[in-house]
Amino acid sequence: MSGINYTDKIPNNVNLSNDRALQRALEHWQPNYLNWWQEMGPEGAQSFDVYLRTAVSVQPDGWAHFDHVKMPDYRWGIFLAPQDGERKIHFGENKGRDAWQEAPGEHRANLRRIIVTQGDTEPASVEQQRHLGLTAPSQYDLRNLFQVNVEEGRHLWAMVYLLHRYFGRDGREEADALLQRNSGDQDSPRILGAFNEKTPDWLAFFMFTYFTDRDGKFQLCALAESGFDPLARTTKFMLTEEAHHMFVGESGVSRILQRTADVMNELGTENPESVRAAGVIDLQTIQRYLNFHYSVTIDLFGADQSSNAAIFYSAGLKGRYEEGKRTDDHVLKHDTYKVLEVADGRLREVEVPMLNALNEVLRDDFIKDSMAGVGRWNKVLEKKGIAFRLQLPHKAFNRRIGSLAGIRVAPDGTVVTEEQWRAHEHDWLPSAEDREFVASLMGRVVEPGKFANWIAPPVIGINRQPVNFEYIRFN
Ligand SMILES: [Fe+2]
Ligand SMILES: [Fe+2]
Repeated sequence: MSGINYTDKIPNNVNLSNDRALQRALEHWQPNYLNWWQEMGPEGAQSFDVYLRTAVSVQPDGWAHFDHVKMPDYRWGIFLAPQDGERKIHFGENKGRDAWQEAPGEHRANLRRIIVTQGDTEPASVEQQRHLGLTAPSQYDLRNLFQVNVEEGRHLWAMVYLLHRYFGRDGREEADALLQRNSGDQDSPRILGAFNEKTPDWLAFFMFTYFTDRDGKFQLCALAESGFDPLARTTKFMLTEEAHHMFVGESGVSRILQRTADVMNELGTENPESVRAAGVIDLQTIQRYLNFHYSVTIDLFGADQSSNAAIFYSAGLKGRYEEGKRTDDHVLKHDTYKVLEVADGRLREVEVPMLNALNEVLRDDFIKDSMAGVGRWNKVLEKKGIAFRLQLPHKAFNRRIGSLAGIRVAPDGTVVTEEQWRAHEHDWLPSAEDREFVASLMGRVVEPGKFANWIAPPVIGINRQPVNFEYIRFN
């Protein structure tokens, strides 16, 4: 079960060759995917040999294989974590019943919607990142970008397999549509807001992989609990890839902080203008990027009160983060949860039925997890003797979704007027000028072991290779 068949046109561990109709349908989708990759994937990089990891099995050590490959030749395929024959649904009203091996009729539309929404984010991020290769600060970073890109491509494959295999003609149509929507497209945008934003520079990329890929982690964790077993098994394997994406983000920001702190110490200055003049990114700009990416990412969890979230949970389609480790009744009919609302010009907490607040529950779990990494970033500053500390803004800051949309809240949680917002917006969110400055630092560094001025090298290379290893052969 865990061995991956690489002799089939589509690598897989799902015995694809035993289902000829499905195999044909996916082989029909495959060239459309490759066309999409050529058009919307990494710009100008299709002929590079990139030192990529490829899954050889779905066991924990299955990631052992690294080699130089051209990205269009990457072995995208279908890998599900092994089936646990005994698996039961362990939350909601169907708790205790056998997990579903086929999509139950009454939940089909909701399951399809969940899978399409997840699937849509995967190619979206590749599209958002497609120009970044032109300005990579090093070969090491370029390789990491491409690794993230090919894996997001594989995550799309994972969702497309589910659509083809379990949702018949509707599923095939949805799979086609996943290649037709594009990030930021006026007429046919991606489904979720954050996936239509630009990722124009490498600071944005690292913030995106830290925050937005972490949203991916939490969504996938919730889906890995699903009573629909194929979805649970697929997302479980996707999670092994997501960890690397968040590593890229966390270590990327960390290396920027190191470099900025070193320059601040060399110059003996805290003045952002002087820091910028030395060709590194000032801490204030890093904070504003953080505020932006954090706030658009927490919107991805959806409205704070949602009857859909209640339905998905009660039906057993989507669980909570670490559902199995929680000690409540896993039905939640009698539980409540605190969400924010605005009353008399201030934020206050109100208790609502927990089932309706499950988006908020997941968002709060995400926030806790995000905080840990920010603490590690601050350790970098602390070690270098810099007093500045990065902070997550208040969760009501800059929200577009839910009951907090439409009000103005400062990063410290104070509700402000529209005038106050406008007066401070550029202290809180990146201005056009901030983005121009960061863009002005971006320039491609291609020599092995060399790094752009604004970022420190990593401590170790990928797969225990030296930092100056030739991760990319440009050809
Ligand atoms: Fe993904
Ligand atoms: Fe990811």
